[in-house]
Amino acid sequence: MTISPSTDRRTALALGLAGLATSATPALAATAKTALTKPAAGAPASPRRRVRLAEGWRFALGHAADMDRDFDFGRYQRTYAKPGFDVSPATQPDFDDSAWASVRVPHDWAVELPYAPPKAPVPKDKEDMAAAHGFRAIGRDFPQNSVGWYRRKLPVGAGGGLVERGRAIWLEFDGVFRDCKVFVNGYEAGGSASGYAPFRVDIADFLDYDGGPNQLTLRVDASLGEGWFYEGAGIYRHVDLVSAAPIHVPQWGTCVRSTVAGTGAQVTIATTLANAAEVAGAAQLRHRVLGPDGREVATIAAQPAVTLAPGAQTTLDHTVALPAPHLWSPATPRLYTLETSVLVDGQEVDRTQTRFGIRTLSFDGTRGFAVNGQPVKLLGVCNHQDHAGVGTAIPDALHAWRVAQTQSMGANAWRSAHNPPAQALLDICDATGMMMVAETRLNTTNPEALYELDRMILSSRNHPAIVLWSVGNEEGHQGTERGRRISAQLVARCKQLDPTRLTTQAMDKGWDGGAADAVDVVGFNYRTDKIPAWRQRHPGKPVIGTETASTVATRGAYANDAAAHVVRAYDTEHPWWASTAEEWWQIVAAQPGIAGGFIWTGFDYRGEPTPYAQFPSVSSYFGAMDLCGFPKDNYYYYRAWWRRDEPLVHLLPHWNWAGREGQPVEVWVHGNCAEVELLVNGRSLGRKAMPQNGHLAWMVPYAPGRIEARGYDQGRLAARDSRVTAGRPAALRLSADRTRLAADGGDTAAVQVEVIDAAGNLVPTADTALGFSLSGAARIIGLGNGNPTSTEPDKGQARRAFNGLAQALVQSAGTAGAARLTVTATGLAPASLDLFFHA
Ligand code: GAL
Repeated sequence: MTISPSTDRRTALALGLAGLATSATPALAATAKTALTKPAAGAPASPRRRVRLAEGWRFALGHAADMDRDFDFGRYQRTYAKPGFDVSPATQPDFDDSAWASVRVPHDWAVELPYAPPKAPVPKDKEDMAAAHGFRAIGRDFPQNSVGWYRRKLPVGAGGGLVERGRAIWLEFDGVFRDCKVFVNGYEAGGSASGYAPFRVDIADFLDYDGGPNQLTLRVDASLGEGWFYEGAGIYRHVDLVSAAPIHVPQWGTCVRSTVAGTGAQVTIATTLANAAEVAGAAQLRHRVLGPDGREVATIAAQPAVTLAPGAQTTLDHTVALPAPHLWSPATPRLYTLETSVLVDGQEVDRTQTRFGIRTLSFDGTRGFAVNGQPVKLLGVCNHQDHAGVGTAIPDALHAWRVAQTQSMGANAWRSAHNPPAQALLDICDATGMMMVAETRLNTTNPEALYELDRMILSSRNHPAIVLWSVGNEEGHQGTERGRRISAQLVARCKQLDPTRLTTQAMDKGWDGGAADAVDVVGFNYRTDKIPAWRQRHPGKPVIGTETASTVATRGAYANDAAAHVVRAYDTEHPWWASTAEEWWQIVAAQPGIAGGFIWTGFDYRGEPTPYAQFPSVSSYFGAMDLCGFPKDNYYYYRAWWRRDEPLVHLLPHWNWAGREGQPVEVWVHGNCAEVELLVNGRSLGRKAMPQNGHLAWMVPYAPGRIEARGYDQGRLAARDSRVTAGRPAALRLSADRTRLAADGGDTAAVQVEVIDAAGNLVPTADTALGFSLSGAARIIGLGNGNPTSTEPDKGQARRAFNGLAQALVQSAGTAGAARLTVTATGLAPASLDLFFHA
């Protein structure tokens, strides 16, 4: 069989050659590659190499509004007249970038910029937009901060380089914010307008294979935003250099699907083969399936060779039966690995590994959601990619920690709002059983929006964690016929690329028509109380709460203070469109037909500082956890009712109310024990029965000492929690999620700093100024304290505690050995923590 170059991308997609859509722009995606470097005689037939480009980058801020400073260097000045020449000297190998900063990728330059409060009062109706991105000095008024340039040498060519002439060579970017141009040796090789969709840039044509330094340069322009929240700036997700044999499996060229019948599964594998050479070639495919324990469970022997014309691609389908598969589920996240080999003349020239899971999903308007036929409520969180200290540049280990914190709350699902998630996050979700709703950024049908949607699905469809594709969020046209038409086309596109999953759209009105008629699972943003009546009107139609709650709280604060922008952490505060945690969850819990809900949000994030859209509120107050991932009290409401089998009581507020002796304090208990007894200084205030999915409250005259909640099930003590009146700050206590880490330059520990009194109690009101120092094989990559009004730098060596807590993110410096973090504060005993980085 001989395959010819495909002519256009739509045809390719229609033919099921979906893995082809990998070039950098829609227009480029259409063209088959025909002018690739001819394979050198004797080129090694080695399997592919993948090099993560994390270290070795140089960075400088550029000049968005000043074309002269970005482009006006060459003979042809600001033109693209001669590819490879005269665009900007910064794209050339011999440009002197020694004055540029050394950075590591993932990198977010916006999080290092100063805050820039508005110079003049902002009219009330414009406050939200002025505050949306969190008041960093970036965007329209700060052109000099809005463009960043990155440079790095590529490990290619002679002199120890990693890739050779004649191979297919490309770069995989998982996310660059935003509008980036990618240059190799002065040639513009590709780029991406989207700040969120992954993209690939073919670079083989522009490389120097004869020993010259191969220069990669990116110009990244974050002058414009794509959202109404903090979005960061720069290369904030991973970049990989991939070198593969001329005949190879291209990026996203493997698609694994499975159907489960009875006790067995049928796995279908669609593999794209591409020929990047200038000559025709023949190749065979061979597959091995490895089970969750790594043992081979099935093979597909080498198939008859297919001949590919130069630049051609084809997709080959295979099926394999697994008689007794281990199914993937949130509780049993079992993963299989498909190992695909490309053989030329019987020799293996390329090999890829694709992880997948075998499971069935179903949404039903009456029975709700099920995994492998078992009902599962989607206990979800919405999140942006943003964390204290690092902004959007979240190391993989921190993604993992955030997932673990969220699972510890009882959540089993995550909505990546409002953009496709990082591949690193998806890998963690696959491995830990966290289900994911992946959302595309643009709800429209222009070529860019369709291209972004394609990239989301092609990059992610093998991840078992993904349970729904979301095609929009609160779109202006959501409830209209136009909104229906647009979403219907996006849904059709999703089904074409991935017929195995259903679609949703997050809507805040218009659910009786418009886009709600186009998607499979209707999404309600808030207005949870309207869902029951809507279900009566639309019997059988699946529904979820795509956004719920939006309660607002400052961690560890128990009195509203408008002047200080402080919001109390009782489950009572929310904006007009939202509800308390209890209000929405009681509705969803009571109706099995509602598939679940996703709280807005799991974590606080920068920007959208609701309810105080004025400086110095710089981050949101919506999280069940703050920007550092420290739980607020509502975290325990969800934990109580989402992990019902584990007895829990959680008491609030703290018990440090000097000056309020004898005055009533509002005391709450979140928990799931049948009865709760409250005791103050050993005296019982009696037992109360815990309402289903509710909480308990008392008014307690304040007396310093100890307040305790005891939870009883069937009359027996099952859980307890207490607060004591803490003394003055006397010392610091450090703890980390892990103290043994990999010496890989990326592994990161989340270190918690507590300000404690002489008896070791957390001082819940302490805002002590802290100093951080580190010796050994690590570096501090960010600091935070979870205070939405803190405008201290995220980087550096100083940060105040906030309500007793602070966080330091400590990352491997790439060498094995020990490191010691020391935190100091004037007048307090310092604390140290030892971390070990192993090779
Ligand atoms: C929704 C929106 C979210 C966030 C949230 C705050 O309308 O989809 O992005 O703004 O409100 O409550």
